[in-house]
Amino acid sequence: MAIINHLLRSTLRSQSVAHEYVILAPFLSRLQSTQASPHREDSGFKGHDMLAPFTTGWQCTNENPLVIERSKGSYVYDSNGRKYLDSLAGLWCTSLGGNEPRLVAAATKQLNTLPFYHSYWNHTTKPSLDLAKELLEMFTARKMGKVFFTNSGSEANDTQVKLVRYYNNALGRPKKKKFIACSKAFHGSTLIAASLTGLTDLHHKFDIPAPSVLHTDCPHFWRYHLPGETEEEFSTRLAKNLEDLILKEGPETIAAFIAEPVMGAGGAILPPTTYFEKIQAVLKKYDILFIADEVMCAFGRLGAMFGCDKYNIKPDLVSLAKALSSAYIPIGAVLVSPEISDVIHSQSDKLGSFSHGFTYSGHPTACAVALETLKIYKERNIVEQVKRISPRFQVGIKAFSDSPIIGEIRGTGLVSGTDFVDNKSPNDPFPPEWGVGAYFVAECRKNGLIVRPGGDTITMAPPFIISPQEVDELISIYGKALKATEERVRKLKAQK
Ligand SMILES: Cc1ncc(COP(=O)(O)O)c(C=O)c1O
Repeated sequence: MAIINHLLRSTLRSQSVAHEYVILAPFLSRLQSTQASPHREDSGFKGHDMLAPFTTGWQCTNENPLVIERSKGSYVYDSNGRKYLDSLAGLWCTSLGGNEPRLVAAATKQLNTLPFYHSYWNHTTKPSLDLAKELLEMFTARKMGKVFFTNSGSEANDTQVKLVRYYNNALGRPKKKKFIACSKAFHGSTLIAASLTGLTDLHHKFDIPAPSVLHTDCPHFWRYHLPGETEEEFSTRLAKNLEDLILKEGPETIAAFIAEPVMGAGGAILPPTTYFEKIQAVLKKYDILFIADEVMCAFGRLGAMFGCDKYNIKPDLVSLAKALSSAYIPIGAVLVSPEISDVIHSQSDKLGSFSHGFTYSGHPTACAVALETLKIYKERNIVEQVKRISPRFQVGIKAFSDSPIIGEIRGTGLVSGTDFVDNKSPNDPFPPEWGVGAYFVAECRKNGLIVRPGGDTITMAPPFIISPQEVDELISIYGKALKATEERVRKLKAQK
């Protein structure tokens, strides 16, 4: 009962901020302290000194954070020695798991040779040159021309907006400056990346989205299709809505459309059949660029090297980060089509410089780690590895689809999303104060599994190196947590 009260309290307090661990953290930190190893117990870090991302103030003040101390393979260990199977690979990023010695060696070697040098004013370093070449060779959905390095996915998407503005100004199209993104998309946290993001929690009180950003439909078929509508018809309707928006705003004002091949933070949402085909036809008609945000999808997560390969997307620009270095060191990248990079080059010739960059653009140590990561992907044929393991994961999780509290389980490759609803209907959400998703996540953690909370939608994206036994463990804990959550919902319903 104490646990339930605690959950209710935390859920009610945080209804408006359903991102990351907001609803859940207080319950989980209590759980953590009650289950600490007998060997050692931290006194806790509540009231710590960090202004913590996607965390509320009262959580930092009143509750102990879950302090992760080390990682090994698919597992992470907290500061009390408790072991968790990390079904989220950090934040969809530690693709090679928690202790890949080759990445440590690559970083060490580079740190011992040249820990840092920049890439400004035509200076650069060999690892950044090599990584740019490698990425252009690896990306085959269409030929790309150049690579720009950033430190993160958000910086990559911010850079995209600047590149597109620069490009259209160079072409004498000063009005073509608006961007369209999808509702529920996640494109990052910097000013423009958060504006592109279609999760409204990221906008509240930050004075965003910027007026140059528009949002169109979220392509989640199960949640948004009309009665009797097929997936193809749904895609046709969404493409028509996009076209209507473009015509309403004026095609001469729309510069680019940005989308994740599979939407991650929005709930692991797969594109419906023919979606990208139809969207790309509309964009082409009105000379609008396509930015593929592959930050979560790239390098094998979907069972293809890139989401663009899987969904036949021919992008003008691509954003990368996360699995680019298996998250061992921050790095992001933007792939730029030859048409755009040519224009950028000639415009910068006129202006005297292409005045965009970060101190750490092409950081040699980050590039060395990324190069080694890509080498490992190739040597181990990581796409085949994901293809081999993912049916066990997908089939195992989808076997719970009949649960009376689950509306949809979806996924592909090593990404999965579960929606908890009543009556199996997207129109019957559970009362937010019941904290159904939060309870499930807490039960998973109690049993040694970390999953990603997000209101009553939970997502998973395990590391690419997850073993069959670990997948079975994951499914078994998911099942246990589901059973406990069903029981809790049954009791709450009985009390109504
Ligand atoms: C699709 C997508 N784009 C952009 C980002 C932002 O990346 P970062 O947190 O590295 O800035 C994320 C992060 O989760 C993401 O999933």
